[in-house]
Amino acid sequence: MLTGIREIAVITTVEDQPQYQRLLGDGRQWGLSLTYIQQPNPDGLAQAYILAKDFLAGSPSAMVLGDNIFFGHGLPDLLAEADQQTRGATVFGYHVADPQRYGVIDFDDAGRARGLVEKPQVPPSSYAVTGLYFVDATATARARAVRPSARGELEITTLLESYLADDALSVKRMGRGFAWLDTGTHGSLLDAGNFVRTLTERQGQQVGSPDEIAFLMGWINAADLRKRAERFGKNGYGDYLRELAASAHP
Ligand code: G1P
Repeated sequence: MLTGIREIAVITTVEDQPQYQRLLGDGRQWGLSLTYIQQPNPDGLAQAYILAKDFLAGSPSAMVLGDNIFFGHGLPDLLAEADQQTRGATVFGYHVADPQRYGVIDFDDAGRARGLVEKPQVPPSSYAVTGLYFVDATATARARAVRPSARGELEITTLLESYLADDALSVKRMGRGFAWLDTGTHGSLLDAGNFVRTLTERQGQQVGSPDEIAFLMGWINAADLRKRAERFGKNGYGDYLRELAASAHP
């Protein structure tokens, strides 16, 4: 949403789809258009581009993994810059303590990416590829050419390597002013929760509220926001949205 993207496909397992539909609806409440796509088996991230072929209809796209959280001043600018690229792919490298858990970037002496390795035992650098990918219209065709890895998945890393081979992969470093968190383990989910709690309690501002973002982007108005607030009754989030609607339009 902060990139200005309003047509979004939510890809889930078959079983989880109804719950996401119940939670997010058709997106109209945020000025979005949401489409739901099923991935019957966990066959890998690159498969998303095959499953979403009709949705994409030959357009470039951005994909973000549902268990990845990004936070940082200037994030919208970073996203906008990646979104403006019409050819090739853009990914973000982030310094982590445990690169072997991720796709890792191999840099040459000049600091240019020369390779990517998925979950290496001996990481070539400490820079992980985050789960946020901007790709051009060739992604579906490239995904079709990806063969399953040893773990039986169509790896996003293999798809990105095809861009790299064509000298069409831009690797941007996401510096230390950004937080990139994942929520794939109990520990990391708790860490992310504590991080968000610390910020929201200190600042009195929400992190990643689709209602607030839609309002600030001008996709919904104060009346829409008040209607959304009603849905949350007297809880803290409802109060937050009511205050937001009141402060902008006293
Ligand atoms: C996936 C990708 C990996 C990337 C990571 C980011 O890993 O395969 O390249 O670094 O997401 O979260 P997975 O979620 O499959 O472990």
